[in-house]
Amino acid sequence: MSETKALSSQATSPGDSENATNRGVPADPPGTAARRAALRLLDAVLRRGLPLESALDAAAKGLERADDRAFAHAIAAETLRRLPDLDELIDHATKKRLPDDAKARFALRIALVQALAMKTPHHAAISTVLPLVDGGPRKLVHGVFSAVMRQKWALPDVPHLPIPVAERWRKAWGQEAVAAAERLIAVPPPIDLFGEPPADAKGVSLMPGHLRLARGTDIAGLTGYAEGSAGGRYWVQDVSAAIPARLLGPGDGKKVLDLCAAPGGKTMQLAAAGWDVIAVDASESRLARLSENLARTGLAAGIVAADVMKWAPAEPADAILLDAPCSATGIYRRHPDVLHRARPRAIAELAAAQKAMLARAADWLKPGGSLVYSVCSLEPEEGEQVVAAFLAARDDYRMQEQQRILPGAHEAVGGADSFFIARLVRNNRG
Ligand SMILES: C[S@@+](CC[C@H](N)C(=O)[O-])C[C@H]1O[C@@H](n2cnc3c(N)ncnc32)[C@H](O)[C@@H]1O
Repeated sequence: MSETKALSSQATSPGDSENATNRGVPADPPGTAARRAALRLLDAVLRRGLPLESALDAAAKGLERADDRAFAHAIAAETLRRLPDLDELIDHATKKRLPDDAKARFALRIALVQALAMKTPHHAAISTVLPLVDGGPRKLVHGVFSAVMRQKWALPDVPHLPIPVAERWRKAWGQEAVAAAERLIAVPPPIDLFGEPPADAKGVSLMPGHLRLARGTDIAGLTGYAEGSAGGRYWVQDVSAAIPARLLGPGDGKKVLDLCAAPGGKTMQLAAAGWDVIAVDASESRLARLSENLARTGLAAGIVAADVMKWAPAEPADAILLDAPCSATGIYRRHPDVLHRARPRAIAELAAAQKAMLARAADWLKPGGSLVYSVCSLEPEEGEQVVAAFLAARDDYRMQEQQRILPGAHEAVGGADSFFIARLVRNNRG
């Protein structure tokens, strides 16, 4: 069996350690189960192209403790943030280059990221990972790890983006945007609150109604955060993600279609700004979160579970917000898997879907109304180019304002998600 096959069979068989015990083979040392789950997660993202969050349940299936599950997720996420630099260390320390999908490379990434970026004691980092390569390249993994430790090699303070991503963003936005993105990868994203943050929340405000929590704030301990408690009329939303709904201004009871609405950050904003909101999304599970969010904040919206490519409203709306599904490369810090999954072909497919959605939604707006199109993407194909193609095809619309938020935004206070946002206005007839 090749190393590659061994990895994939292991990656889909939770509970290996129990099986091993049943067969009379010694059980894994404590802590190995979380590393095994981290290995499955990495396999799901890097070899099967799955989103990190949606792979978590299956990867962590055998883990009973919530902190093991969180640790497995943290190892995988940190590995994805630092993958090019981890691989460079591994390549320096091996005579013959390990294939990208070799089991030994996966195990070494997990051991090294813990020792060099997560403050796991070196002995624990390697002893919990070696059982993952039992019956395989154990000696090689141990030897490479020990060599890196002996020579005191370190990861760079500023991680590198994967080369194809750096090249793409350099071409689109220039070297400074790439450098800012790299500086920010290793900085934990801040927590921004909107709505009516409680008096015990402390931090800086970057726009009216916004509060960026001071680092280290225990958000779960804030007044009104727990579901159902009084005074919870605020929500967590990145400062950039709040711009699209703001561009529509106050609602004064007018009707807005919030298309692709779940989990509802923008729905809450629109409802709080006085709009009569119809929130549409195709995902029942994400809509359940939207309902919970509305209930928690005491805000109201009509909810429709539907595919916007099949559904249509009963009457035209005063405004539309289309927060289209996208590659999500603008939120690479929170979801570092996008750095490895968003390949040109996937981006092109998403752009085609975005163009079709925008063209369809545009027919549902009253003349004189505004349509905001937004994506949390750093790919011009999903932002500027979608809107340019739309305007070239529709002489009943004009561009009112456009914002491109790049990685350097608000860097001094912890950065912000990257977005493309356009407000388009439908001309009055006649
Ligand atoms: C960027 S997220 C929306 C985030 C949301 N606007 C917010 O502020 O919380 C994109 C959403 O589009 C939804 N979606 C994807 N394709 C869809 C379709 N064809 N029809 C309706 N919703 C769709 C997904 O379920 C996902 O919730």
